[in-house]
Amino acid sequence: MITLISDVDGTLLGDPAALNELNEYITEHRDSFHLIYATGRDVTEMNRGIFTEGLIMPDAAILSTGSEIYTVESGAFLPDVQWESIISASWDKNKVEEAAKKVEGLMTQGKSEKLKVSYFIDPSAAEQIRCRFRKLFKEQGIKAKIIISHEKYLDIIPENCDKGKAAEFLIKKLAMSYDSSVVAGDSENDTDLFESFYHGIVVGNARHGLRLSTQNRDFYMAGTDYAAGVLEGLKYYMQRLK
Ligand code: GLC
Ligand code: MG
Repeated sequence: MITLISDVDGTLLGDPAALNELNEYITEHRDSFHLIYATGRDVTEMNRGIFTEGLIMPDAAILSTGSEIYTVESGAFLPDVQWESIISASWDKNKVEEAAKKVEGLMTQGKSEKLKVSYFIDPSAAEQIRCRFRKLFKEQGIKAKIIISHEKYLDIIPENCDKGKAAEFLIKKLAMSYDSSVVAGDSENDTDLFESFYHGIVVGNARHGLRLSTQNRDFYMAGTDYAAGVLEGLKYYMQRLK
């Protein structure tokens, strides 16, 4: 039984025909797969993906860049309160938002997630903004993690959380096999997934940041893009992990 833990935007989404083919493959082999999405999306955006963007219902979802976990029961997403209590212990959203007022170049995403604060940033200022936050967090004793992806999304989440840590917690809780878990991603905010697991698919359209952090490791580098790359990698792991 393989557990596919896949990012959504830029990994599963990007080529609708390829997504259909992947969905068909997973549906045909449903007895051989667990399916988990791991994304920066919140639950409303996740539902949109399922109802209007062609994603199939997973067994569970890691949302808001790892700061929320949902299991699926009777076709609906249910929040995992245990994960929330573990990661919220050191989290102070007000302090993060106050510190952000001192950082130039941020544009709010206007979302209201309990354990994640997100901004759009100017790509040319990305590293400067990261440094500024790091300094402020250190000075003010704020325990939080900064994740920049696509050079334009900035997510701030609790220190002891990310997509990888959330996935490790989730598969343990659902008694899924760690050794048969395969992650898939396209960008910098998937790096933590590849840090936490040792089987993974880097899709053909992956960004430089993810390529850098996964190089020289034993991951499957797909030749094709988006869901076609995921399917390519899944077939490879189906053979290898048999
Ligand atoms: C998704 C989320 C956004 C986040 C981005 C990167 O687009 O909607 O809040 O910043 O992913 O993780
Ligand atoms: Mg992505």
